[in-house]
Amino acid sequence: MKRAYELAAETMVAAAGKVAVLTGAGISVASGIPDFRSSQGLWARYDPMEYAEISSFKRNPEKVWAMLEEMLAVVEQAHCNRAHEYLAELEKKGVLRTVITQNIDGLHQAAGSCDVIEFHGTTRNLVCLRCGWRWPGFRLSELQKLPPKCHKCDAIMKPEVVFFGEQIPQTALIKASEAAESSKVMLVIGTSANVYPAADMPALTKRSGGRVIEINLEPTPLSTSVADQTIFGPAAVVLAGIESACDKLLTGRRLI
Ligand code: APR
Repeated sequence: MKRAYELAAETMVAAAGKVAVLTGAGISVASGIPDFRSSQGLWARYDPMEYAEISSFKRNPEKVWAMLEEMLAVVEQAHCNRAHEYLAELEKKGVLRTVITQNIDGLHQAAGSCDVIEFHGTTRNLVCLRCGWRWPGFRLSELQKLPPKCHKCDAIMKPEVVFFGEQIPQTALIKASEAAESSKVMLVIGTSANVYPAADMPALTKRSGGRVIEINLEPTPLSTSVADQTIFGPAAVVLAGIESACDKLLTGRRLI
């Protein structure tokens, strides 16, 4: 396994400053936030087409907000874990440039990553379905009742996350695609690579002549098609190995 970390580190240091990362729910499992599609995942208990699809939300906001309250309570209590911190450290060392995350938990920013693209939005804010009024940085404890109502027009509000059936925020899509196309390496961590267009980002790097390194507990559709290297193991363990191998290569070298 040590050789796998060294190989990944050599690839990343050789591309230092042009390395992007795509993360999924797997990187936040160690922070206590369940992923979606593993046997203990959120979608094992809630049907995503009933609880994470925008027309279902509009049809029955009370029902969806019952699931959202459970999920938001977990996210509000969560802290970044070593995997998030390793990525922030590799950004500070000038190896990593952009984190494209599918996660809505804000843990990359909490760990110190600066260049983060939230591809599926964020749970930090609420937004009104009718007038678009936003409530930045709300806390569950501030919501008198559920579903929360807009302070301007009294319509129902939802977290500023992308539901199935909604468009990816245009800025996020353009920035992420540009980062993927201009990167020489993309690290793909803790995603089942099932949901598009996020799952297309590694292929954009590949098509631009870059290399793709995948970290996951199990194979994904990327493993046999797009990934040049797949390292199986928990994100924090694998990233610890890669960071230590990067440090050995970087000793005495200044990247930024
Ligand atoms: N280390 C590495 N990988 C892990 C770990 C871990 N500790 N724990 C779980 N994984 C892997 C799982 O093997 C799986 O491949 O993380 C992946 C999580 O996959 P999903 O649950 O499908 O989550 P994700 O890929 O982020 O889902 C994408 O789907 O429902 C939507 O909007 C939601 O952003 C989400 C999108």
